[in-house]
Amino acid sequence: MIILGIDTSCDETSVAVSKDYKVLSNKIWSQAVLHASFGGVYPTLAKREHKEKIDFVIKKALTQAMVKIDEIDAIAVTIGPGLAPALEVGISKAKEIAKRYNKTIFAINHLEAHIFSPFSTSSDKWNLKKIKSKFPAFGLVISGGNTLLIYAEKIGHYKVLAETIDDALGEALDKGARILGLGYPGGPVLEKMAQLKAKGEKEKNPLPLPLVQDPRNTRFSYSGLKTALLRLVEKIEAERGGLGKKDIIDLSYFYQDRAFSHLTRTIKYILPQYKAKTLLVGGGVASNIEIRKRLRKLAHENGLEILFPETKRNCGDNAAMIATTAQIRESLGIIKPSNKDKLERIPNFKIEDIKNA
Ligand code: KG4
Repeated sequence: MIILGIDTSCDETSVAVSKDYKVLSNKIWSQAVLHASFGGVYPTLAKREHKEKIDFVIKKALTQAMVKIDEIDAIAVTIGPGLAPALEVGISKAKEIAKRYNKTIFAINHLEAHIFSPFSTSSDKWNLKKIKSKFPAFGLVISGGNTLLIYAEKIGHYKVLAETIDDALGEALDKGARILGLGYPGGPVLEKMAQLKAKGEKEKNPLPLPLVQDPRNTRFSYSGLKTALLRLVEKIEAERGGLGKKDIIDLSYFYQDRAFSHLTRTIKYILPQYKAKTLLVGGGVASNIEIRKRLRKLAHENGLEILFPETKRNCGDNAAMIATTAQIRESLGIIKPSNKDKLERIPNFKIEDIKNA
């Protein structure tokens, strides 16, 4: 089956073409530079940019895949969760193409797609049998908009085990980087800064570990950590007139360390409570080397195979994972084509609310 995937859920206009389980092209037009001055994504600007770029990105994806638009069998489009004005652009484009060329549309949940992103590859590595053999599985999404751990007894059956009650992990890293004057998106810069911290320096981390007293261990929370960083920066500025390079390196390291320790501490508590074979990880933060190292260790300790997306690029928002998700659901017979007139965005689309046909 040849699928045209479309994702415009946040600040990336992405279009991909896949044939069965093989990704033929995966084009991503990032708006990050545009949103940099706002320190986060500005929804109306995102919508305008998606509208301006989408036809161009579709053309690029089809050309690279060497597929003509009338050769595709279906369109897979993200309907949520995401920014409402941004989602709308991808959905209207999907409807337009579907009507014009008489194609089927599959409506896809962006979080499920992040969890399936390790199965979205440019080689012939995956087929339905192999994918099914990885379940029961845990799914972890660590992105700019979500921090979510789920248990999937099988594909399409999800139980949320932990999620954030305020900021998402990527959002927390972006906000921390902003406080340190490092720009947007902050996760990658913060990672680089943290790597500069001299090895072997044994200092006490001056920042708090979030929710350390919470016995529930089913929640992530990052807003307190961000405020603690802000207060510490204000204190240093008042004492010394500003942050020096060493301060920035140290604080990046300490902040990232606490953010990641909070994530792994909660996951570590939950993993032994369920029987699973695999830990599937997706989302922009999954490209971070330190978090990969810590998650690999956790998976190993719990006898789980851990799977990440094939490239760093595939960790963040991309349309290949949307096409792959449609392919998996279609092969299993658990997705119905959407009504081309009635298809609507669901900005708050929860993974537990996905319906299996
Ligand atoms: O999945 P994604 O593209 O989606 C959302 O926008 O939700 O993730 C973007 C997030 C940003 O917060 C960005 O700072 C973070 O992923 N990120 C990273 C790294 N690369 C991207 N965080 C930590 N380390 C990285 N290397």
